[in-house]
Amino acid sequence: MYTLARFKNWVSTRRGVHAPNVDKLHVAVLAFPFGTHAAPLLSLVRRIAGEAPNITFSFLSTRKLNATLFSGPYDEFIPNIKHYSVHDGLPEGYVPSGNPQEPVFMFINAMPEMYKRAMDEAVADTGKNITCLVTDAFYWFAADLAQKMHAKWVPLWTAGPHSLLTHVYTDLIRERIGGTNVRDAQKVDFLPGFPELKACDLPEGVIDDTDGPFATMLHKMGLELPRATAIAINSFETVHTRIENEVGSNFKLLLNVGPFILTTPQNLISDEHGCLEWLNKHENASVVYISFGSSVTPPPHELAALAESLEECGFPFIWALRGDPKEKLPEGFTERTRTQGKIVAWAPQMEILKHSAIGVCLTHSGWNSVLDCIVGGVPIISRPFFGDQRLNSRMLESIWDIGVGVDHGVLTKESTVNALKLIMSSEKGMVMRQNVAKLQESALQAVEQNGSSAKNFLTLIQIVTS
Ligand SMILES: *[C@@H]1O[C@H](CO)[C@@H](O)[C@H](O)[C@H]1NC(C)=O
Ligand SMILES: *[C@@H]1O[C@H](CO)[C@@H](O)[C@H](O)[C@H]1NC(C)=O
Ligand SMILES: *[C@@H]1O[C@H](CO)[C@@H](O)[C@H](O)[C@H]1NC(C)=O
Ligand SMILES: *[C@@H]1O[C@H](CO)[C@@H](O)[C@H](O)[C@H]1NC(C)=O
Ligand SMILES: *[C@@H]1O[C@H](CO)[C@@H](O)[C@H](O)[C@H]1NC(C)=O
Repeated sequence: MYTLARFKNWVSTRRGVHAPNVDKLHVAVLAFPFGTHAAPLLSLVRRIAGEAPNITFSFLSTRKLNATLFSGPYDEFIPNIKHYSVHDGLPEGYVPSGNPQEPVFMFINAMPEMYKRAMDEAVADTGKNITCLVTDAFYWFAADLAQKMHAKWVPLWTAGPHSLLTHVYTDLIRERIGGTNVRDAQKVDFLPGFPELKACDLPEGVIDDTDGPFATMLHKMGLELPRATAIAINSFETVHTRIENEVGSNFKLLLNVGPFILTTPQNLISDEHGCLEWLNKHENASVVYISFGSSVTPPPHELAALAESLEECGFPFIWALRGDPKEKLPEGFTERTRTQGKIVAWAPQMEILKHSAIGVCLTHSGWNSVLDCIVGGVPIISRPFFGDQRLNSRMLESIWDIGVGVDHGVLTKESTVNALKLIMSSEKGMVMRQNVAKLQESALQAVEQNGSSAKNFLTLIQIVTS
């Protein structure tokens, strides 16, 4: 893992950037303030800015996000990143309607204008024109902005190459299987490198609800990304070479610079509940690790089915669960499984997945979690919810053969018991463990000194800082 110690060591030996006009360079960073988007962009920028102490970086995000993002230990080493607030797009006196998507949509509708204002402020404040825009890939409007400013545009795609493929080929997909009569199981077998894809795997907005703000943003993104100077992606070159090449062929330059957990400075998550010590007492590949990430919790009947499956199978488990377990899980479950398992509010996920005692990870299959499992060498049981998660699930089940989904994407007792037994104690599970170990090895190779991600990172730094 890319730790604070490693970062400090690297900063002390950095070469610095010696471009002639280095003091005039001004990089504006435009972060998407929802979900798990801004944190990876900031860690990417921290590494670049750490390399270039004389270049000004302006990080533009909402006030609310600034308060949570810039609280880690890194900033004292990189004083050249300054925060500028972008208005959140909500009207004066906004009262939440209860629809969690509403503030996101309002922000999306307002953002091109809000960012323009914040950038003007950063330019006036620093006295330096913007020479490079580093943005979330969602920000299609940066293509025009960069062109007007004669600046470079370097978007970051925080998910995998296969989801990017579906956004770049959205028009083709709509043309071939659009309309209202699409069946879930309908094959989408015409995307190069991804013949296993089905209509129900596609991210929201590709073929359904195509007029919404989010869908419109993703569609425009797919059309504008080819104008970018270079696109950075939190992935590594051998994840799926055919898909990588196909999606990359649409762009000027696609740079695999991940997995970020290994290539960019990470915030430390302490092991306050003693998970690692607990794992030390368990045999290799014997423990089930469960986490659905920071933004979703399965509905009560699925949590109950999962709890019952764990009791029935008897495998030891660590369950990262937000909220009160006594309220969320079946009555008596926490008492009955006191020695079998450990339920914690926060867990140091990467450290846990690296531990030899872990046998399987049950996850929502967000891209960051899939990468963590690959880096940890752990097979997956997948219960996807939204966005790219169903696509990731299809990849790990049908292409990499490193995991399984549950029936119709829902945790029932039967399907969860079957999936657990398959991975923990069958021949097929052994094969999946071997397959994920191979992917793990390619990820580790990619970040070694002469590996592809390491080299791509140097190219990226060169582009942003010249
Ligand atoms: C950065 O700026 C300082 C002070 O202006 C200067 O001494 C130093 O040589 C510069 N470093 C690089 C790498 O340009
Ligand atoms: C961002 O957060 C930092 C640290 O919490 C604070 O010092 C700074 O004033 C904030 N900046 C803005 C523009 O809100
Ligand atoms: C910034 O760009 C504007 C318009 O292109 C130009 O007039 C101005 O001189 C530039 N400012 C600096 C500090 O380079
Ligand atoms: C358990 O895994 C560790 C690390 O992979 C390995 O060194 C050790 O030999 C394994 N132990 C057994 C009993 O297989
Ligand atoms: C990386 O490549 C360079 C040039 O090919 C070589 O000199 C160096 O030994 C390599 N380093 C490692 C760690 O493989």
